[in-house]
Amino acid sequence: MLAIQTESLVKSYGGANAVDNVSIGVEEGEIFGFLGTNGAGKSTTMMILTTLLKPTSGSARVVGHDVVQSPREVRRNIGYVQQDTAVDEFLTGRDNLMLQARLSHLPAGERGRRIDEILAMIELGARADDATVTYSGGMRKRLDIAGGLLHMPRVLFLDEPTVGLDIQTRRKIWEYIRRVHDEYGMTIFLTTHYMEEADSLCDRVGIIDRGRIRTVDSPSSLKSAMGSEVITMRVEGDAGALASAIHALPGIREMSRDGGEITVYTYSGTSLIPRIFAESGGAGARIASISLKQPTLDDVFISYTGRELRDDEEAAYDRKKAYRKTRELRA
Ligand SMILES: Nc1ncnc2c1ncn2[C@@H]1O[C@H](COP(=O)(O)OP(=O)(O)O)[C@@H](O)[C@H]1O
Ligand SMILES: [Mg+2]
Repeated sequence: MLAIQTESLVKSYGGANAVDNVSIGVEEGEIFGFLGTNGAGKSTTMMILTTLLKPTSGSARVVGHDVVQSPREVRRNIGYVQQDTAVDEFLTGRDNLMLQARLSHLPAGERGRRIDEILAMIELGARADDATVTYSGGMRKRLDIAGGLLHMPRVLFLDEPTVGLDIQTRRKIWEYIRRVHDEYGMTIFLTTHYMEEADSLCDRVGIIDRGRIRTVDSPSSLKSAMGSEVITMRVEGDAGALASAIHALPGIREMSRDGGEITVYTYSGTSLIPRIFAESGGAGARIASISLKQPTLDDVFISYTGRELRDDEEAAYDRKKAYRKTRELRA
């Protein structure tokens, strides 16, 4: 059984499809991510899967239960952590979790032990009895995630789990998400517009743009399908002879030489490098330096959507700044 399965899911608002014919399957135990810019339809899809929104058409099942026909069964099996933190600032971390434990009908005898266990896992134990108003953004997010874990759901939904956090804090949160996944064996469905987040956390990524899924695969397959690994080297001695020898090797897409600088485009960079070294002796050339650049998930995203994975808010801010500047110049 798949943990999550959708068939031709559509959600339209006044004629426009926020979610447009989305069909995906998420395996049990997988970390699956939706990667897309703001407005792509990530949150809308997640709200349908968590029973908070009804689809316009199509269907979705979570751990085998239909989200429209059996919302209670779905809810019992899932945890949902919204994008905006939902902690009560005047309560302590522990009290926030106790409140949630009651709301999610966790048996009274289990609450204390479960909360301690989860606080330890996300390393909040030492600050558990401080008011959350004193917590940093990263600590609040950890507390939020803890709240989603209290009833040990089979599937955990995380909507943009690290948005707005600095990169160090973001990496910490990734570590906690991985730990939760490994220790509890949970299926995790997350959304993000951060390329590095999808790349480092997800077993498989669905690229979503304007409500549509453009492709689904593992980050490494997506990147290697780009077929554009680039090897650059600086050569001493007979660079021309080495270039000819490399050109005869299998797996070369394209190459160029500028004096002692040779650039090779290939589908199989890591296996090609030792062969290039093997050829260099016979060609009377010495490789002084060599580097291999792999395509990033950003390159993949651009190739599927024609757009860059830039933070739209940042872009809007830049535009506003530029506009203000022009006005200042005019004045
Ligand atoms: N309640 C709503 N009414 C009308 N349009 C909406 C509503 N919610 C979302 N949308 C639109 O649906 C699209 C997808 O939004 P959303 O799922 O929030 O995207 P994301 O989470 O990927 O940023 C956007 O164009 C958004 O403006
Ligand atoms: Mg969103």
